[in-house]
Amino acid sequence: MAGYTIVAGPRGLFFARALAEASGAPLLEAQHKLFPDGEQYFRLPGPVETPTAVVVASMFPEQDRALVEAMLLSEASLGAGARGVVALLPYLAYARQDRRFLPGEPVSVRALLRALHGVGVRGLVTVDVHKEESLRDFPGVAVNVDPSPAFAEYLRGRGYAGADVVVIGPDRGALARARRLGERLGAAYDYLEKARDRVTGEVTYRPKQVDVRGKKVVIVDDIVSTGGTLAKAARMLYEQGAEEVVAVCTHGLFVGDALRRVREAGIKLVVAANTVPKLPEGVEVVNVAPTVVRYLDYVVERL
Ligand code: R5P
Repeated sequence: MAGYTIVAGPRGLFFARALAEASGAPLLEAQHKLFPDGEQYFRLPGPVETPTAVVVASMFPEQDRALVEAMLLSEASLGAGARGVVALLPYLAYARQDRRFLPGEPVSVRALLRALHGVGVRGLVTVDVHKEESLRDFPGVAVNVDPSPAFAEYLRGRGYAGADVVVIGPDRGALARARRLGERLGAAYDYLEKARDRVTGEVTYRPKQVDVRGKKVVIVDDIVSTGGTLAKAARMLYEQGAEEVVAVCTHGLFVGDALRRVREAGIKLVVAANTVPKLPEGVEVVNVAPTVVRYLDYVVERL
C-alpha cells in the first residue's frame, strides 16, 4: 500500500478516485457545503492515519474556489494528523501568467505557489505545467509530470507513429513537448511561430515552412482554452499540405464553442488527459493517474 492518504473535495474527487485505483492508497472524501454568503466549508470524515496527506484539487473550472479548496484541505489534513502535505494539482491554473508581460502585472503563478506553501504544503505535483521553470517559485519539492508516455501509447494504438507522422508544437514554447512526444512516436517534430497580442489576446501566426506535405500531423499543446490556437495552427498545416491533422492537449478546458472551432478547422481526432473533469463529448480521454503515481512516490519520499 502507498505511504500516503489521498484527501479530496468536490474539485479533486474525479482524479482522486483514479489515483486511489492506480496507487492503492486510501481516500478521504471531504464533506463540503457552502455557507449562505458563499464561503466554503470542508470537513474530513476521519483522521489521516499515514504520515503524509496528498490533497488533490484540479483548478478548472472555478480556479479561485479550487485554490481555496486546496488550501483549506491542506490545513485540515495537518489538523487531522498528517505530518506532511503534498498538493496534487493535475491542472495548475494561472501558470500562463509566469512573468510580468506588462508593467504592473503580477507573477500570478508565483503568488499561488507561495500561498500553498504558506498553509503548510511542502510538496507539489502537477501535470504538464505551462513552463516547468515556474515551479522554482515553490519553496518545497515540486515536480512536473510528463504526460507524453501515456499520450504516445494511446497514439500508437490509433496508428499515429513512425515516419509518416510529424508532431508540431503550435508555438516555440511547445517545442519541448513536440520533441518528447515525437521521439516516443519515432516521428519528426517542429513548431510554428505564434504571436499573441498582450492586450487583446489575439493569436496570429508568422509564415513558417514545416515539412508536413502528405504527412499525418499531431499538434501537441498544454492547454486548449478557446481553441483559437489549435484551429489557426491546423489551417496553416493543411495549407502546407498536411494529409490529416489531429490534436493532443493535456488540459482540455474547451471554453464555450472551442470544440466546434477545432472541428471546423479540420481536426477530427482530439485527445486530452483527465486532468480536468467533464471533457466535452467526442474528446478522447487518456488517464494519466498511473503516470502521476510514480512522480508522487518520488515527492513523498523527499518531504
Ligand atoms: C499558450 O501559450 C498555451 O500554451 C496554449 O496554446 C493556449 O493557452 C491555448 O489557448 P486557446 O485555446 O485559447 O488558443
